[in-house]
Amino acid sequence: MKKMNMNMMMASALTLGLTLGLTTATTVYADPAAEQGKILAGFKKDYPDVKFDDMIHGAMVFSADAKSQYNAIMEMPPFLDAMDAGKKMWDTPFKNGKTYAECMPNGGKQIAGNYPQFDDKKGEVVTFEMTLNGCRTANGETALGYSDMKTMGVVTAYARSLSDGMKVNVKVEGDAAKKAYAEGKKTYFARAGQLNFSCANCHIGGAGNNLRSEILSPVVGQATHWPVFRGKDGGDISTTLQKRYVGCFKQVRHVSEKEGSKMLNNLEYYHTSLSNGLPMQAPVYRK
Ligand code: HEC
Repeated sequence: MKKMNMNMMMASALTLGLTLGLTTATTVYADPAAEQGKILAGFKKDYPDVKFDDMIHGAMVFSADAKSQYNAIMEMPPFLDAMDAGKKMWDTPFKNGKTYAECMPNGGKQIAGNYPQFDDKKGEVVTFEMTLNGCRTANGETALGYSDMKTMGVVTAYARSLSDGMKVNVKVEGDAAKKAYAEGKKTYFARAGQLNFSCANCHIGGAGNNLRSEILSPVVGQATHWPVFRGKDGGDISTTLQKRYVGCFKQVRHVSEKEGSKMLNNLEYYHTSLSNGLPMQAPVYRK
């Protein structure tokens, strides 16, 4: 056998370290396209007939009845008053005369699919809601409550509708962004609550299965259509994406961090990237 000198030994130890994935703590593996591809491949095995573009309809891809009920409701949606209220908020200038449209990138049009995004200067994930609030505070207004449906709910319903048809396009570039994405992924796969379920248990492994009276939607497509109005809430815009996360955590009896927290922002970053390439529409009806 060939004798190894010190340099050769170090080189082979390094190769071994790399093969085993023992990279340094600063590099994080994060590839949203590969991640989505892997999940879709698993889903296709169980449900080969479901088309990618139809996955925006969530659990309705498994129920023609639910889908036709949805179509009927969306033809004359009861949320038109809420949308008017949102448009009014959007159009009303701040006290200094400036508007949301002047403050948001591209006048607020066809941009919602770029969120959440990683802001390198701030060193954190920034959601669409945070950007709207950033506009407000930069112009001397108070920030809106993340879960205040009468203000944040209606204004985001209108503001996001300006991006209808845009494809979700969440980017994960740079080490800090990858770290936030990895954090979000960790939350997504972590079992939580008294029932000890992870998001993935229900929406990846369990997609298409029945849970009590509901069919579980697949994760891909879930981030395209927020906020939603739910049947039980009449015509009101009732649920933002993060409010839905908190609701799902409640189902497994887990008290989660609040809407707007770093933990839920990172979760939204990972979760939304799994809907990349799908067209957006806001708001929509959900049961
Ligand atoms: C015990 C099962 C369960 C767990 C765990 C769970 N959910 Fe859900 N989730 C549901 C059910 C039931 C619904 C309503 C039916 C549907 O659309 O899937 C739902 C709906 C959703 C929706 C709305 C889908 C749409 O198209 O409107 C999102 C988004 C969501 N869950 C995200 C999450 C996230 C993120 C987690 C982890 C924090 C999670 N869920 C954990 C059961 C679960």
